Amino acid sequence: VTTQDLPATHRVLRSTVRDDGTVEVSLRSEPVPQPGADQVLVRVEAAPINPSDFYLMFAGADFTRAERVDAGHPAVRAPLPAGALASVATRVGKDLPVGNEGAGVVVAAGSSEAARALLGRTVAVFGGAMYAQYRAVGADQVLALHEGTTPEQGASCFVNPLTALGMVETMRLEGHRALVHTAAASNLGQMLVRICQADGIGLVNIVRRDDQVRLLADLGAEHVVSSGEAGFADDLAAAVAATGATIAFDATGGGDLADQILTAMERAVTAASTEYARYGSDIHKQVYIYGGLDRRPTTLRRTYGFAWGVGGWLLVPFLARLGPEGTRRLRQRVADEVTTTFASSYAKQISLDQVVDPAEIAVYGRLATGQKYLVTPARG
Ligand SMILES: NC(=O)c1ccc[n+]([C@@H]2O[C@H](COP(=O)([O-])OP(=O)(O)OC[C@H]3O[C@@H](n4cnc5c(N)ncnc54)[C@H](OP(=O)(O)O)[C@@H]3O)[C@@H](O)[C@H]2O)c1
Repeated sequence: VTTQDLPATHRVLRSTVRDDGTVEVSLRSEPVPQPGADQVLVRVEAAPINPSDFYLMFAGADFTRAERVDAGHPAVRAPLPAGALASVATRVGKDLPVGNEGAGVVVAAGSSEAARALLGRTVAVFGGAMYAQYRAVGADQVLALHEGTTPEQGASCFVNPLTALGMVETMRLEGHRALVHTAAASNLGQMLVRICQADGIGLVNIVRRDDQVRLLADLGAEHVVSSGEAGFADDLAAAVAATGATIAFDATGGGDLADQILTAMERAVTAASTEYARYGSDIHKQVYIYGGLDRRPTTLRRTYGFAWGVGGWLLVPFLARLGPEGTRRLRQRVADEVTTTFASSYAKQISLDQVVDPAEIAVYGRLATGQKYLVTPARG
């Protein structure tokens, strides 16, 4: 069942690691997918470029050296750093689709009742291949947005909102009462500030510059510390002590930030105790690395006893741990608060053609504060 005449072909963005040590990002013309019985066909109106999309698209290549190539379709190529090909060997020669999430309008549906009920609705989709004009997806996989929510407003319903909510859920599940967050002026960090305000949870925001301190203070964040300040270690320890935070989510991953956080937590815990503990405090302190913004190795000096952990954290395995009921609860909160708590802002809206424009890549590739781009595949 369709609501409009559909074209035979549409444009799809693909990323290919080549065996010559370059990555090619290209726009292909492909048949428009037919929805299966339980599927809907979404005309994709808006999809954000999140860091995870950028990493998949450029595979760690030097995006500042992206150059247009004549591949018979719009395309750019960028060189991988020396020796990096081995780490992406399993994707060499494969044309991968890109775009984890987005939103659009259901323009065709399969025969099932659930699929037909979505015809004409504006929906958010999480499932990859969203940098395309059309996407066929299971009716049970889409999030139907409230009447009046636009695709632009609903484009970022999953990756950052569910991760920010997942941090708070993890905090509770693992018995902590407040949390520390790094690269905290990010789009995700701003959502976390609003969630913690709404839910009355202590949050220590770590940023690296003064303008980021101001940005979060303007949002009403109570504890914002900058790693760019000389007094960072003391400021961090004071904020950790004030909130009682014993769990942190670190988007940078590299260098000694995780170490500094564990040190501050141990300082806060031992300052509250009068007893000397030769093996350090027995309060568990946890840092989850959930991003890789800093590519350096992670340095841990281990000067905080033995009750600590550093591990990885990823959204999809976390949702599996939370289960279908918990996941539904989080998704519904996002749909209900997508224009408030989970509102995203974008520096620019770009067409699929502009995604492969070296001048645009040079900007969105920086992953800088307030520079998130929104791709609008349906438009031109
Ligand atoms: N594990 C998961 O499941 C999961 C899910 C969602 C998101 N994430 C991660 O969450 C993070 C934030 O995503 P987003 O979409 O909110 O990002 P965003 O809005 O694009 O912002 C990126 C932020 O990172 C900062 N940054 C970049 N490089 C940095 C570095 N080396 N050290 C410190 N700060 C740095 C930027 O600040 P400057 O302006 O100072 O550069 C900016 O504030 C990303 O790392 C992403 O991969 C992970």
